[in-house]
Amino acid sequence: MSPITSSALFCELKSGIEARKAHIGVIGLGYVGLPLALLYTDQQFPVTGFDIDHRKVDTLNAGGSYIFRIGKEEIQAARSTGFSATSDYARLSGMNVVIICVPTPLNEYREPDLSYVTNTAHAIAPHLRAGQLIVLESTTYPGTTEEVLVPILEMENRASLKAARGGEADGKAFYVAFSPEREDPGNTSVARRDIPKVVGGLDGQASELAAALYGSIFNRVVQVSSPAAAEMTKLLENIYRCVNIALVNELKLLSLRMGLDIWEVIEAAATKPFGFQPFYPGPGLGGHCIPVDPFYLSWKAKEWDFQTRFIELAGEINTAMPYHVLASIVQALNRQRKALNGSRVLVLGVAYKKDIDDLRESPALTIIELLRNEGAQVSYHDPYFPEVGRGRKYDLQMKRVSLENLAQYDCVVIVTDHSDYDYRRIVQESHLVVDTRNATKGIDSKKIVRC
Ligand SMILES: NC(=O)c1ccc[n+]([C@@H]2O[C@H](COP(=O)([O-])OP(=O)(O)OC[C@H]3O[C@@H](n4cnc5c(N)ncnc54)[C@H](O)[C@@H]3O)[C@@H](O)[C@H]2O)c1
Repeated sequence: MSPITSSALFCELKSGIEARKAHIGVIGLGYVGLPLALLYTDQQFPVTGFDIDHRKVDTLNAGGSYIFRIGKEEIQAARSTGFSATSDYARLSGMNVVIICVPTPLNEYREPDLSYVTNTAHAIAPHLRAGQLIVLESTTYPGTTEEVLVPILEMENRASLKAARGGEADGKAFYVAFSPEREDPGNTSVARRDIPKVVGGLDGQASELAAALYGSIFNRVVQVSSPAAAEMTKLLENIYRCVNIALVNELKLLSLRMGLDIWEVIEAAATKPFGFQPFYPGPGLGGHCIPVDPFYLSWKAKEWDFQTRFIELAGEINTAMPYHVLASIVQALNRQRKALNGSRVLVLGVAYKKDIDDLRESPALTIIELLRNEGAQVSYHDPYFPEVGRGRKYDLQMKRVSLENLAQYDCVVIVTDHSDYDYRRIVQESHLVVDTRNATKGIDSKKIVRC
């Protein structure tokens, strides 16, 4: 029998993907990985989810969900068509495609922490098979796929397999690509499949396979020339947001001093039909992406003797916003002849943005910590979080209070403008409302301080 060639492996995987028979393994069943696994299941692919968190695996296998916007009916429907979750990496050898969606945070020195990606690569390598396609989706600096992921997979697999890099190999190749996740949590105006998917393969065949893979669930796939170009694309998108948010945050501070309403100004500017996209100020950046990802690039840039000044400046302005909120609360209380020390403050909304159940990097947590440091008695309410325990940075250990009897608080601070809140009632019943999101737009009251 003649040995299987690389082109045979390629054709087999491509036709398997096109026929929706390729078995897909998704590693990391969080906000990105779980919806992706469900999308593929929905499109009739056999899918297995992998996660080291046993509670998540058990919840999914019992037909439950741990993400607010994913109902348990969705999980149960996926289960009934074959989706299952596991922590057993040995099952990777049964996959044709492996998609990695693990976290990429910053460490305490605000440097990239790639340990989740490298741990995953170490865990995949012993189970790697010729002809598998490995795709990294985690947001990261340009070069990660080629410089970090591929070397581990090549060095630690048991069959001397090499990543396909063009040309005809002897049937001992696996394929590698990077494809960034572009989801906007809470955004219901664009369907997931209408967000074009960018892919960059290590070689033409890897790109073609990744394009076929994502083409089966996304309406448009955009191929770029390399994994690094795809990695940089994602960072450009997030840096663009981070810098523009910093710009409006700075202009908000100036507008406050000048007695102008920045929200009115942005609304007017946004009527220009070209050349302007509105961004909105707030109490500071939150989420796993915008406050974190730009620093992946500034870290990498140093290797090239390059300072990414826009990123640093935007980081400085955005990081200062919770301190601005604190100063505004102090000033607002002062005008009522009250000190923050000893005052009762209710924080409304702790999620990092409206209508989502994600606390990561939320400015609300910093604001609560700052208020407590000044001696305030802080309570919070958020429809999505009955309690706030230990996070990456803070250990707040708080339980949600009810929205009854708002008059007991000296100050109510709107940090996250969830749609569920009745802002008119909140203003009516409170002594003082500090609004960081323009949530009280249209309500005319001397009790409101917009900051
Ligand atoms: N959440 C978003 O909206 C969003 C948007 C775009 C990009 N991203 C990027 O996608 C990636 C994943 O983000 P997320 O929000 O889904 O993170 P998450 O924390 O919600 O989920 C990550 C999952 O990976 C699991 N995990 C960690 N190490 C593992 C390992 N070695 N093996 C198996 N499972 C492991 C964790 O238990 C967790 O369930 C990050 O790089 C993030 O920057 C996220």
